[in-house]
Amino acid sequence: MIKKVYIETYGCQMNVADSEVVVSILTDAGFKTADNINDADLILVNTCSIRENAEQRIWRRLKAISYLKKKNKGIIIGLIGCMAERLKEKVLEEDRFVDIVAGPDSYRELPLLFAEAESGHKAVNVLLSHEETYADISPVRLDKNGVSSFVSIMRGCNNMCAYCVVPYVRGSERSRDPETVLREVNELFNSGYREVTLLGQNVDSYRWDKDGLNIGFSELLEKVAGIDPLLRVRFSTSHPKDISDELLKTISRYDNICKHIHLPAQSGSNRILKLMNREYTREWYMDRISAIRKFIPDCSISTDMISGFCTETEEDHQASLTLMEWAGFDFSYMFKYSERPGTRAARKNKDDVPEDVKSKRLTEIISLQNKLSALSKKNDVGKVLEVLIEDYSKRSRDFMSGRTSQNKVVVFPDKGYYKGDYVQVLIERCTSATLLGKVTKH
Ligand code: 5AD
Ligand code: SF4
Repeated sequence: MIKKVYIETYGCQMNVADSEVVVSILTDAGFKTADNINDADLILVNTCSIRENAEQRIWRRLKAISYLKKKNKGIIIGLIGCMAERLKEKVLEEDRFVDIVAGPDSYRELPLLFAEAESGHKAVNVLLSHEETYADISPVRLDKNGVSSFVSIMRGCNNMCAYCVVPYVRGSERSRDPETVLREVNELFNSGYREVTLLGQNVDSYRWDKDGLNIGFSELLEKVAGIDPLLRVRFSTSHPKDISDELLKTISRYDNICKHIHLPAQSGSNRILKLMNREYTREWYMDRISAIRKFIPDCSISTDMISGFCTETEEDHQASLTLMEWAGFDFSYMFKYSERPGTRAARKNKDDVPEDVKSKRLTEIISLQNKLSALSKKNDVGKVLEVLIEDYSKRSRDFMSGRTSQNKVVVFPDKGYYKGDYVQVLIERCTSATLLGKVTKH
């Protein structure tokens, strides 16, 4: 009988891309995908360890999934991804319904692990690799819109940010063969996709020096953008210490490279940045923002901020706020520091900012960002912006929605357009999350 797999994905875009690789590997091994969890023989949960609350949420979800197993003993449950890598065999002690534990570099083994689990044994593979990039695998697209997709260009991370669990759960950095990246993007474009986001923990350190090719990230980006002017290209994540003027110039040269850069600052205080081992200063970060504004005047900039890192004082916190205000970020992802076992900060620094102080500072960061985001959207009112249509609006089938090059969501009345069309939209007003307008040119 044909086995069916159902996969649930938590965490970052990289995990979304990985789930597509996982489904491809299982499809090649004869599995079909189940649209409904109740029809699945194999339930996979692709997990995230970035903060404690991410893990707690997944444990709660696993509990709920365990009920299915109580009803049908034949179901196999697999925990894969970052949490599997972090906890290894311990997962099996925490949840006796889990049958498979597989880390981010052992997905090729999943068919074997499934067979082992089916024969009644717990199956674990959490080996990390220096080479695995799944370069030859054509991911099975799991997204619904068929317009935009993620393409992984590298795996792992060699930066040792003191707070971060990623290098431990995803291993060391390795770049993917550029030929296979271009092949994958070409296939996406030919099957109707109009936007790709190139993914890596630190895309600026992409490097391929083999087979007579010597390619850094700027060159790769340029090659991808050269596939077709109708293909939008995004990328994530840049590291402030590595983002180069050369890259900024490349972005400015191509209309189809989106004018948006996600540049996580984490903190505005030099003392905290040093403690975080970020390898740049506030001044360096500001210089990079100035360079973006100089080379790409219409570029939007987003960031990540952490509140309440070890020893953070009110003065450090104020430095984060003034940096945000100065940079005028278009949007941000904002977090309370969460100590992760085994990281450098967990080993060397005390998680000594009280929870209520972390929360208060986070609230201040969020309300400042809300003000900046509103300002950023207000500035777009009256402009005509190019929008790539992604789908119907969530609220109504009479409206469609897409994004600008700057990654802002735009909603407008549907006059018979299609997903994947480019339209020019006159922005008439904005809400807290969205720009609203009407199409002036199709
Ligand atoms: N606690 C809080 N936030 C974290 N991030 C990474 N590790 C932690 C942690 N231990 C945030 C950073 C990073 C984003 C993906 O998650 O801001 O850029
Ligand atoms: Fe992604 Fe990091 Fe979470 Fe892993 S731990 S899923 S790399 S955000």
